[in-house]
Amino acid sequence: MRLSKEFRDQFSQHEMRTHGRKNGFVTTGQEARLLHWLPKIGLPKEKILLDAGLTDDAPVVMEIGFGNGDFLVHLALTHPEWMLVGVEIYLPGVAKAVGRLEGAGVIERCRITQLPAQFVLAHQVAEAQLDGIFINHPDPWPKARHHKRRIIQKDFAALMVSRLKPGGFIKLASDKPDLAEWMRDILDATSGLENVAGIGGFIERDTDRPQTKFEQRGIKEGRESQFLHFIKVGG
Ligand SMILES: C[S@@+](CC[C@H](N)C(=O)[O-])C[C@H]1O[C@@H](n2cnc3c(N)ncnc32)[C@H](O)[C@@H]1O
Repeated sequence: MRLSKEFRDQFSQHEMRTHGRKNGFVTTGQEARLLHWLPKIGLPKEKILLDAGLTDDAPVVMEIGFGNGDFLVHLALTHPEWMLVGVEIYLPGVAKAVGRLEGAGVIERCRITQLPAQFVLAHQVAEAQLDGIFINHPDPWPKARHHKRRIIQKDFAALMVSRLKPGGFIKLASDKPDLAEWMRDILDATSGLENVAGIGGFIERDTDRPQTKFEQRGIKEGRESQFLHFIKVGG
Protein backbone atom coordinates (compact mmCIF):
# COMPACT_ATOMS: atom_id res chain seq x y z
CA MET A 1 0.00 0.00 0.00
CA ARG A 2 1.22 3.55 -0.68
CA LEU A 3 -0.20 6.79 0.66
CA SER A 4 -1.42 8.54 -2.47
CA LYS A 5 -0.07 11.90 -3.59
CA GLU A 6 -3.54 13.35 -3.00
CA PHE A 7 -3.51 12.07 0.60
CA ARG A 8 -0.01 13.43 1.22
CA ASP A 9 -0.95 16.76 -0.40
CA GLN A 10 -3.78 17.12 2.09
CA PHE A 11 -1.96 16.07 5.22
CA SER A 12 1.72 16.81 4.78
CA GLN A 13 2.55 19.18 1.92
CA HIS A 14 2.82 22.87 2.66
CA GLU A 15 4.59 25.93 1.35
CA MET A 16 6.81 26.52 4.40
CA ARG A 17 10.47 25.55 4.39
CA THR A 18 11.27 23.23 7.29
CA HIS A 19 14.40 21.48 8.49
CA GLY A 20 14.55 17.95 9.81
CA ARG A 21 13.39 14.63 8.37
CA LYS A 22 9.83 14.33 7.12
CA ASN A 23 9.68 10.92 5.48
CA GLY A 24 10.86 7.45 6.41
CA PHE A 25 9.71 3.85 6.54
CA VAL A 26 6.08 3.25 7.45
CA THR A 27 4.72 -0.31 7.59
CA THR A 28 1.69 -1.42 5.61
CA GLY A 29 -0.28 -1.70 8.85
CA GLN A 30 0.70 1.84 9.86
CA GLU A 31 -0.32 3.15 6.41
CA ALA A 32 -3.70 1.46 6.76
CA ARG A 33 -4.13 3.10 10.18
CA LEU A 34 -3.20 6.52 8.77
CA LEU A 35 -5.68 6.08 5.92
CA HIS A 36 -8.35 5.15 8.44
CA TRP A 37 -7.69 7.79 11.09
CA LEU A 38 -6.33 10.92 9.39
CA PRO A 39 -9.57 11.67 7.50
CA LYS A 40 -11.30 11.55 10.91
CA ILE A 41 -8.82 13.14 13.31
CA GLY A 42 -6.23 14.66 10.96
CA LEU A 43 -5.98 18.35 10.27
CA PRO A 44 -5.64 18.72 6.50
CA LYS A 45 -4.11 22.01 5.48
CA GLU A 46 -7.39 23.54 4.26
CA LYS A 47 -9.11 22.92 7.61
CA ILE A 48 -8.94 25.17 10.65
CA LEU A 49 -8.96 23.87 14.19
CA LEU A 50 -12.28 25.59 14.90
CA ASP A 51 -13.87 23.28 12.29
CA ALA A 52 -12.15 20.14 13.55
CA GLY A 53 -15.02 18.92 15.72
CA LEU A 54 -13.46 19.80 19.09
CA THR A 55 -15.76 19.45 22.07
CA ASP A 56 -17.14 22.88 23.01
CA ASP A 57 -15.56 24.32 26.17
CA ALA A 58 -12.96 21.54 26.51
CA PRO A 59 -9.46 22.95 27.09
CA VAL A 60 -7.32 22.61 23.95
CA VAL A 61 -3.66 21.71 24.49
CA MET A 62 -1.05 21.26 21.77
CA GLU A 63 2.15 19.23 21.72
CA ILE A 64 4.67 20.36 19.11
CA GLY A 65 7.18 17.79 17.83
CA PHE A 66 5.57 14.81 19.61
CA GLY A 67 8.10 12.27 18.23
CA ASN A 68 6.59 8.81 18.67
CA GLY A 69 3.58 10.09 20.65
CA ASP A 70 4.36 8.68 24.10
CA PHE A 71 3.99 12.03 25.86
CA LEU A 72 0.78 12.75 23.93
CA VAL A 73 -0.66 9.45 25.17
CA HIS A 74 0.40 10.39 28.72
CA LEU A 75 -1.37 13.77 28.38
CA ALA A 76 -4.52 12.13 27.04
CA LEU A 77 -4.60 9.59 29.87
CA THR A 78 -3.82 12.04 32.66
CA HIS A 79 -6.10 14.82 31.36
CA PRO A 80 -9.31 13.21 30.11
CA GLU A 81 -10.89 16.69 30.06
CA TRP A 82 -8.44 18.01 27.41
CA MET A 83 -8.70 17.96 23.63
CA LEU A 84 -5.18 17.45 22.29
CA VAL A 85 -3.56 18.67 19.10
CA GLY A 86 -0.39 16.80 18.12
CA VAL A 87 1.95 18.36 15.58
CA GLU A 88 4.88 16.37 14.15
CA ILE A 89 6.58 16.68 10.76
CA TYR A 90 8.12 13.16 10.70
CA LEU A 91 5.69 10.72 9.08
CA PRO A 92 6.92 7.55 10.88
CA GLY A 93 6.45 9.45 14.17
CA VAL A 94 2.89 10.37 13.20
CA ALA A 95 2.25 6.74 12.22
CA LYS A 96 3.57 5.41 15.56
CA ALA A 97 1.62 7.99 17.55
CA VAL A 98 -1.63 7.16 15.76
CA GLY A 99 -1.12 3.49 16.70
CA ARG A 100 -0.35 4.33 20.34
CA LEU A 101 -3.28 6.74 20.69
CA GLU A 102 -5.61 4.16 19.13
CA GLY A 103 -4.25 1.44 21.42
CA ALA A 104 -4.77 3.64 24.49
CA GLY A 105 -8.36 4.33 23.42
CA VAL A 106 -7.86 8.12 23.43
CA ILE A 107 -7.46 8.93 19.74
CA GLU A 108 -10.87 10.54 19.27
CA ARG A 109 -9.89 13.32 21.68
CA CYS A 110 -6.83 14.11 19.58
CA ARG A 111 -6.26 15.99 16.36
CA ILE A 112 -3.05 15.01 14.61
CA THR A 113 -1.13 16.72 11.85
CA GLN A 114 2.13 16.25 9.95
CA LEU A 115 2.19 19.91 8.94
CA PRO A 116 4.90 22.04 10.59
CA ALA A 117 3.99 23.85 13.80
CA GLN A 118 4.75 27.23 12.20
CA PHE A 119 2.11 26.55 9.49
CA VAL A 120 -0.45 25.11 11.90
CA LEU A 121 -0.22 28.03 14.33
CA ALA A 122 -0.19 30.69 11.61
CA HIS A 123 -2.98 29.29 9.43
CA GLN A 124 -5.09 26.77 11.33
CA VAL A 125 -5.26 27.93 14.95
CA ALA A 126 -7.26 31.02 15.88
CA GLU A 127 -6.07 33.74 18.24
CA ALA A 128 -6.53 32.81 21.89
CA GLN A 129 -7.71 29.27 21.04
CA LEU A 130 -5.16 27.23 22.97
CA ASP A 131 -4.99 26.58 26.70
CA GLY A 132 -1.46 25.27 26.58
CA ILE A 133 1.50 24.22 24.45
CA PHE A 134 4.14 21.57 25.24
CA ILE A 135 7.47 21.32 23.42
CA ASN A 136 9.75 18.52 24.62
CA HIS A 137 13.33 18.25 23.48
CA PRO A 138 13.08 20.25 20.26
CA ASP A 139 15.86 19.71 17.74
CA PRO A 140 19.02 21.38 19.13
CA TRP A 141 20.75 22.30 15.86
CA PRO A 142 24.04 22.65 17.77
CA LYS A 143 26.13 24.43 15.11
CA ALA A 144 25.92 28.22 15.46
CA ARG A 145 25.20 28.61 11.75
CA HIS A 146 22.15 26.34 12.17
CA HIS A 147 20.70 28.13 15.21
CA LYS A 148 18.20 29.86 12.93
CA ARG A 149 16.64 26.40 12.36
CA ARG A 150 15.72 26.05 16.04
CA ILE A 151 11.98 26.14 16.47
CA ILE A 152 12.02 28.70 19.29
CA GLN A 153 12.70 32.03 17.62
CA LYS A 154 11.38 35.52 18.47
CA ASP A 155 8.62 35.45 15.82
CA PHE A 156 7.56 31.91 16.69
CA ALA A 157 7.39 32.83 20.39
CA ALA A 158 5.13 35.81 19.58
CA LEU A 159 2.97 33.55 17.37
CA MET A 160 2.56 31.04 20.21
CA VAL A 161 1.57 33.82 22.63
CA SER A 162 -1.06 35.13 20.19
CA ARG A 163 -2.63 31.63 19.95
CA LEU A 164 -2.83 31.16 23.74
CA LYS A 165 -5.74 32.24 25.90
CA PRO A 166 -4.84 34.63 28.72
CA GLY A 167 -3.61 32.37 31.53
CA GLY A 168 -2.55 29.71 29.01
CA PHE A 169 0.82 27.99 29.40
CA ILE A 170 3.90 27.02 27.43
CA LYS A 171 5.95 24.17 28.91
CA LEU A 172 9.28 23.10 27.46
CA ALA A 173 12.00 20.59 28.20
CA SER A 174 15.54 20.16 26.93
CA ASP A 175 18.63 18.26 28.05
CA LYS A 176 20.91 20.55 26.03
CA PRO A 177 21.91 23.42 28.37
CA ASP A 178 22.72 25.74 25.49
CA LEU A 179 19.30 25.18 23.88
CA ALA A 180 17.47 25.36 27.23
CA GLU A 181 19.04 28.76 27.88
CA TRP A 182 18.31 29.89 24.31
CA MET A 183 14.61 29.03 24.74
CA ARG A 184 14.46 30.62 28.19
CA ASP A 185 16.07 33.86 27.02
CA ILE A 186 13.80 34.24 23.98
CA LEU A 187 10.65 33.48 25.98
CA ASP A 188 11.77 35.71 28.90
CA ALA A 189 12.05 38.55 26.37
CA THR A 190 8.67 37.84 24.73
CA SER A 191 5.97 40.34 25.56
CA GLY A 192 2.92 38.81 27.26
CA LEU A 193 4.76 35.90 28.87
CA GLU A 194 5.74 35.42 32.49
CA ASN A 195 8.36 32.88 33.55
CA VAL A 196 6.83 30.94 36.46
CA ALA A 197 10.35 30.43 37.91
CA GLY A 198 11.18 34.16 37.58
CA ILE A 199 13.26 35.71 34.81
CA GLY A 200 16.26 33.47 34.08
CA GLY A 201 14.78 30.56 36.04
CA PHE A 202 13.91 26.91 35.36
CA ILE A 203 11.18 24.93 37.15
CA GLU A 204 11.58 21.57 38.86
CA ARG A 205 10.49 18.56 36.83
CA ASP A 206 6.70 17.95 37.08
CA THR A 207 6.36 14.88 39.28
CA ASP A 208 4.01 13.07 36.88
CA ARG A 209 6.12 13.78 33.77
CA PRO A 210 7.21 10.61 31.94
CA GLN A 211 10.61 10.44 30.27
CA THR A 212 10.32 10.90 26.52
CA LYS A 213 12.44 8.90 24.09
CA PHE A 214 14.89 11.75 23.67
CA GLU A 215 15.13 12.35 27.41
CA GLN A 216 15.93 8.65 27.97
CA ARG A 217 18.64 8.87 25.33
CA GLY A 218 20.12 11.94 27.06
CA ILE A 219 20.08 10.21 30.47
CA LYS A 220 22.01 7.24 29.03
CA GLU A 221 24.56 9.73 27.74
CA GLY A 222 24.77 11.45 31.15
CA ARG A 223 22.65 14.55 30.44
CA GLU A 224 19.99 16.01 32.73
CA SER A 225 16.90 17.79 31.50
CA GLN A 226 15.85 21.32 32.34
CA PHE A 227 12.25 22.47 32.35
CA LEU A 228 10.57 25.79 31.56
CA HIS A 229 7.06 26.99 32.36
CA PHE A 230 5.61 30.25 31.05
CA ILE A 231 2.13 31.74 31.49
CA LYS A 232 0.41 34.20 29.17
CA VAL A 233 -0.35 37.33 31.14
CA GLY A 234 -2.51 40.31 30.21
CA GLY A 235 -5.19 40.43 27.48
C1 LIG B 1 14.47 15.71 19.15
S1 LIG B 1 12.87 15.20 18.67
C2 LIG B 1 11.97 15.08 20.21
C3 LIG B 1 10.77 14.20 20.11
C4 LIG B 1 9.91 14.08 21.39
N1 LIG B 1 9.33 15.36 21.75
C5 LIG B 1 10.71 13.51 22.54
O1 LIG B 1 10.98 14.25 23.51
O2 LIG B 1 11.06 12.32 22.48
C6 LIG B 1 12.19 16.69 17.96
C7 LIG B 1 10.94 16.43 17.15
O3 LIG B 1 10.43 17.67 16.65
C8 LIG B 1 9.94 17.43 15.34
N2 LIG B 1 9.89 18.73 14.63
C9 LIG B 1 10.94 19.44 14.17
N3 LIG B 1 10.53 20.59 13.60
C10 LIG B 1 9.17 20.60 13.71
C11 LIG B 1 8.17 21.52 13.28
N4 LIG B 1 8.49 22.64 12.64
N5 LIG B 1 6.87 21.23 13.55
C12 LIG B 1 6.56 20.07 14.20
N6 LIG B 1 7.46 19.16 14.61
C13 LIG B 1 8.75 19.42 14.37
C14 LIG B 1 10.95 16.46 14.75
O4 LIG B 1 10.47 15.76 13.63
C15 LIG B 1 11.22 15.56 15.94
O5 LIG B 1 10.34 14.45 15.99
